[in-house]
Amino acid sequence: MASQVRIAPSILSADFARLGEEVQALESAGADWIHVDVMDGRFVPNLTIGPPVVKAIRAVTKLPLDVHLMIVEPERYIDAFADAGANCITVHVEACTHIHRAIQHIHARGLRAGVSLNPSTSEETVRYLISSVDLVLVMSVNPGFGGQAFIADVVPKLDVLRKWAVSSGRDIDLEVDGGVTPETAPIVCAAGANALVAGSAIFGGGNYARAIAQLRAAAGS
Ligand code: DX5
Ligand code: ZN
Repeated sequence: MASQVRIAPSILSADFARLGEEVQALESAGADWIHVDVMDGRFVPNLTIGPPVVKAIRAVTKLPLDVHLMIVEPERYIDAFADAGANCITVHVEACTHIHRAIQHIHARGLRAGVSLNPSTSEETVRYLISSVDLVLVMSVNPGFGGQAFIADVVPKLDVLRKWAVSSGRDIDLEVDGGVTPETAPIVCAAGANALVAGSAIFGGGNYARAIAQLRAAAGS
C-alpha cells in the first residue's frame, strides 16, 4: 500500500460560481488530487459537468485531475476528457460492456485508468481487470449526489481488493468515495484504502486545510 493516503476533494460540493478559486484553494489547502464527478442523468439521476469544465480546471491547477465518469457508454467520452486534461479516468463496471477495451483506450491516451464499483456490485467484477488498472474506486454511497451516509457493507470489498492488488505486484490505488469523514476514514484505510474522496467533509466546514488535515490524521498518514 502507498504509505501516504491521498486526499481527493470532490468539487461536486464546491461553489460552481467560483470554481477556479475553489480548486486553487484546495491545492493550497494540501489536496493531493482534484476529484471531478461527471454525471449524465442516465447512469445516475443527476447532471453535472463535462469536458469544457475539466479544461477550465486544468488551466488553474497542477494537481492531478481524477475524473470519475458516472455515465453510460463512457468509452464514447474518453478522448474528450483526455483532451480536456484529465490525468486519471475512472469508468464504472456497470456502465461499460467492454470495460477491458475502455481501460486500454484510457492507457492508449497516456492516462491512468480506474474502474469503479457501485455499493451492490461484487469485487469479482474486477478480478480479471486487476492487472490492467491503476486504480479501483469503491463507492460507499449510491452514486449521484454528495452528502449521503456511508454504507459500511462495502468495507469487506476493500480487504479483498487490497489483497488482489498486492498479489498483482503493481502499484494500484484503492480509492473510496461517498460519506468519507474523519469517522469513516479510519475504517476504510484499515481495510486497505489509500485514497479518499471527500465532498461534504471538506466543503462543509469552510476551512479546507483543517478538513484535509483532519482526514489525513484520521487515516493515519
Ligand atoms: C457521489 C460522488 C462523490 C460525492 C462525494 O456520486 O461520486 O464524489 O460527491 O460526496 P460526499 O463526500 O459528500 O459523500
Ligand atoms: Zn466521485
